[in-house]
Amino acid sequence: MKNILVTGGAGYIGSHTLVALIEEGYRPIVFDNFSNSSAVAIKRVEEITGVEVEVIKGDITRDEDLDLLFNAFEFSGVIHFAGLKAVGESEREPLKYWVNNVDGSIKLFAAMKRFDVKNIIFSSSATVYGDRNPFPYKEGMPLGAVPVYGKTKEVIEYALMNLKADGFNSLALRYFNPVGSHKSGKIGENPQGIPNNLAPFITQTLVGKREKLTVFGNDYNTPDGTNIRDYIHVLDLARAHVVALNYLLENEIGFDAINIGSAKGYSNLEVIEAFEKAAGTKVNWEFGPRRAGDLDEYFADATKAKEVLGFEVEYDIEEMAADAWKWQRLNPNGFEEVE
Ligand code: NAD
Ligand code: WQD
Repeated sequence: MKNILVTGGAGYIGSHTLVALIEEGYRPIVFDNFSNSSAVAIKRVEEITGVEVEVIKGDITRDEDLDLLFNAFEFSGVIHFAGLKAVGESEREPLKYWVNNVDGSIKLFAAMKRFDVKNIIFSSSATVYGDRNPFPYKEGMPLGAVPVYGKTKEVIEYALMNLKADGFNSLALRYFNPVGSHKSGKIGENPQGIPNNLAPFITQTLVGKREKLTVFGNDYNTPDGTNIRDYIHVLDLARAHVVALNYLLENEIGFDAINIGSAKGYSNLEVIEAFEKAAGTKVNWEFGPRRAGDLDEYFADATKAKEVLGFEVEYDIEEMAADAWKWQRLNPNGFEEVE
């Protein structure tokens, strides 16, 4: 059984990927500092899979933690989710993001080099395409991330591109907007404090934790005036990691970047509608001013994922909404109140 290091494995996308890895016959080893996650997520993964998951508490910015980790296990590959992801916070506290995301990733790569582990999948983001590219976004387009968060993702991609010369074999997966949860409703997105993202804000409003959703802007250049984004079910995204890992372990590619999205755009009002249908009730919402930095519309060109990985999404926005709502309904306070 192949050991796969999963940094940030207790988080939203990481926990769903653990289930997919176990189902594929891999042995994931989680390395997480729990700065934005709960150990309960791991227990829930164990409940879903019936498999005990090895967890090492540690920080990617600490060489001593990484040394202990790499000394304890032999890894066939790494899936690197660990990072901070709040766009607004990254603008207010840029150093925190450069240290955690960039310095942390470089330390992880250096540990991989020391211990001769060369295969890595990196969580990149559609944000690397910046604000000047036409949609749909294609992998060959010039990068130009605008927020600090996006810049950290972009430079980590450049680092991995360079590390080809150090023998690294890496894939940057550029995720679009993940929504949804495992079908069991046992794991899901668990934002701390007020959610930044649309879907968790909607589900928290539906469950009564938030009074009202503000839809940021109604005068964008789109059919209904609200932003259009590419939403992907977290189960599809998790499966993409397994498909990408299988591919990476069998091929010497050096470095490549691949979009993981649905290639379909939904407006904010269409997303609200999908959740209303799932919950069977209206979302309390109103229009407010635009949010700084939001682009009118973008979505993925998903051709490369299909051609290179044979990956295509299975779920649509209605299933994303139904599953995200199930998770929120069963766990109104996320992982907080249990165990
Ligand atoms: P998340 O916050 O739920 O998970 C990230 C995990 O990393 C958390 O468990 C956190 O505790 C851990 N972590 C953070 N800093 C760490 C450190 N220094 N050492 C060890 N562990 C650390 O986020 P997520 O939504 O699951 O995202 C996973 C990855 O995907 C992130 O890198 C994120 O930037 C990227 N991404 C997310 C989205 C999205 O919308 N959710 C979109 C594109 C890319
Ligand atoms: C979606 C739409 C908002 C909240 C972000 C990152 C991106 C990637 C995915 C990590 C926009 C609107 C939101 C609310 C609203 N993450 N909205 N009211 O901005 O497309 O992408 O997450 O890599 O890098 O930028 O996602 O969910 O924040 O917003 O009207 O309370 O919902 O204005 O139009 P976004 P989001």
